[in-house]
Amino acid sequence: MRDVISILDFSKSEVLELFELTDEVLSGKFKPRLEGKIVATAFFEPSTRTALSFTSAALSAGAKVLGFSSDEATSVSKGENLADTIRMLENYADCIVMRHKLDGSAKFAAEIAKKPVINAGDGKREHPTQALIDMYTVRKLFGTMEGLTFGFLGDLRYARTVNSMLRILTMFRPRMVYLISPPQLRARAEILEELNYPVKELTDVRDIIGELDVLYVTRIQRERFLDEDEYEKVKESYRLEYRTVEKMKRDSAILHPLPRVSEIDRRIDSMPQAKYFLEASYAVPLRSALLHEVMAGD
Ligand code: NCD
Repeated sequence: MRDVISILDFSKSEVLELFELTDEVLSGKFKPRLEGKIVATAFFEPSTRTALSFTSAALSAGAKVLGFSSDEATSVSKGENLADTIRMLENYADCIVMRHKLDGSAKFAAEIAKKPVINAGDGKREHPTQALIDMYTVRKLFGTMEGLTFGFLGDLRYARTVNSMLRILTMFRPRMVYLISPPQLRARAEILEELNYPVKELTDVRDIIGELDVLYVTRIQRERFLDEDEYEKVKESYRLEYRTVEKMKRDSAILHPLPRVSEIDRRIDSMPQAKYFLEASYAVPLRSALLHEVMAGD
């Protein structure tokens, strides 16, 4: 029984073990068994893929699922209210999968709950299970996660999936990581300070497109801007174009946690580098392997 709050709650060997278990789930060699367990999905912020793939993962392992998905989080902006909800939920379930707009909310919930809490996104801070899916995709495509060249394009200031990815990469020693964003959306200093691999910041993806093995794109996280004018200034500041992808290596990969808004030209979807839908397809096997590790055997 354990919490998953940050990607750094995992050691490298735990990540590798989880990926091996996911391989076995995918191939049908292993079937997670969670009969008699109940998973709560507590989504205070909107979600399509994360909530549904956790639900599908839990159901396919024989668990039951209850929960809610509403953006009425604005009324739950005080720690006290959240604490009460968590105390209630843990009476009803064996594990709580939670998404909330407040940074640090998952850690807060885990401190209150005796049952395991899985962070499905806390504000702009982290989204560890998405990073697991992303890195699993990298491993599937390249046969390795070490020594690759990554580019992160987009809203690096507010995208929590990027934080979790930059952190998991500290386990795999990339050759180079390019952080590509408009100046207003640069990655935060506190994340950059943690990184143990070479990083370069730039504003135009075309400058390095031919070098990349993996290009990870994110949408602008509009809901995290405190000032609508600030959002207006950057809203169309980057977009991945067909012509740009033509200059990528043929065996390189474009990833995106989804949802996509307009930051990737839709014509790119049929190019060989477009791997974001494949990436999304690994969500259920990976999350069912994770739920098994978190809940089975207690
Ligand atoms: C991401 C999130 O919620 O942070 N969505 C997801 O779970 N795949 C990315 C996003 O919303 O842009």
